[in-house]
Amino acid sequence: MEKTLPKAGSASRPATDSNLGQLAGSALPTISSRASASGSVANELPDDLEGAIVDLKKERNAVILAHYYQESEIQDLADFVGDSLQLSQAARETEADVICFAGVHFMAETAKILNPTRKVIVPDLDAGCSLADGCPAPVFARWLEKYPDHTVVSYINCSAEVKALSDVICTSSNAAKIVQALGDRKIVFAPDKHLGRYVSKQAGRDDIVLWQGTCVVHETFSEKKILALKVKHPGAEIVAHPECEESVLRHADHIASTSGLIKYVTESDAKTFIIATEAGILHKMQKQAPDKELIPAPPEDDTCNCNMCPFMRLNTVEKLYLSLRDLKPEVDVSEPVRIRALRPIERMLEMSV
Ligand code: 13P
Ligand code: SF4
Repeated sequence: MEKTLPKAGSASRPATDSNLGQLAGSALPTISSRASASGSVANELPDDLEGAIVDLKKERNAVILAHYYQESEIQDLADFVGDSLQLSQAARETEADVICFAGVHFMAETAKILNPTRKVIVPDLDAGCSLADGCPAPVFARWLEKYPDHTVVSYINCSAEVKALSDVICTSSNAAKIVQALGDRKIVFAPDKHLGRYVSKQAGRDDIVLWQGTCVVHETFSEKKILALKVKHPGAEIVAHPECEESVLRHADHIASTSGLIKYVTESDAKTFIIATEAGILHKMQKQAPDKELIPAPPEDDTCNCNMCPFMRLNTVEKLYLSLRDLKPEVDVSEPVRIRALRPIERMLEMSV
């Protein structure tokens, strides 16, 4: 597979080889910061916020794409709700003038890369991702120099600059399939080490080189508390996202992307489920499976909202309204980076059909 290593992009924060993948913790937004962010503009907001958003959508010829981790009100206002792969496909296909992306920054960037003639806006530009932040392009480019004959498979949770350094992108719903399709080629997988380890196992490989990144949400689930719940609910099935640690994944009855987990819970004969992923998924899951009992997997620290993504939750209905009203903040990708990032994303889309 041909590979061009572009000049490294700009890093948002300093990184060294010794802290690869571990950079995110210092800059986590807190969920309570949402209230003050939206409160400061309270007097600019219409009484019927939802109605105003529907009107603005029509006026702007805009489409709202939302991830399953968004708060339920945002999901209910969206034209399309999906996992990372489905959202990329929807972003590529839309003919709307404006894509309002209620998700995190790398998702909106991917939409822009795939559909550069549309304006892409987000409710909050600070909605990042610990996996993307923990893999700065200049450090990643330097690390890749150690593996010149490897195919670079990057999880979509990374910046446009890191995508531009990659051979093929994957999401949690197609990672195993893509790695398996690469046969016996040497592979580096970034940035999520837990997904990388899970995929290595699925592909029967022990030689895949893993970047050491993690998701701040999925690594908080407590194996001990999940097992205690299982004792209390012996018939319950445990379902988990592959970003979870091995100590959680080894107890799972089913491991899949967000859309895969929703499908499994809807179709399984079990009545009770312990859900080891971000709690926003429960909204759609419960709608699809109203007769099932859904128990969110508990985080280690039960005094925090650690099973909610602090980045996804920066987006609020208020900010969604303001972004559609003002057509900002806008997400842009420089054309040289976009062109280089497009090819590995297109490869993924071709390999996912
Ligand atoms: P999915 O692609 O499974 O929706 O996952 C996205 C994500 O960010 C998980 O933390
Ligand atoms: Fe990133 Fe984790 Fe949030 Fe998903 S849940 S967007 S991987 S920080």
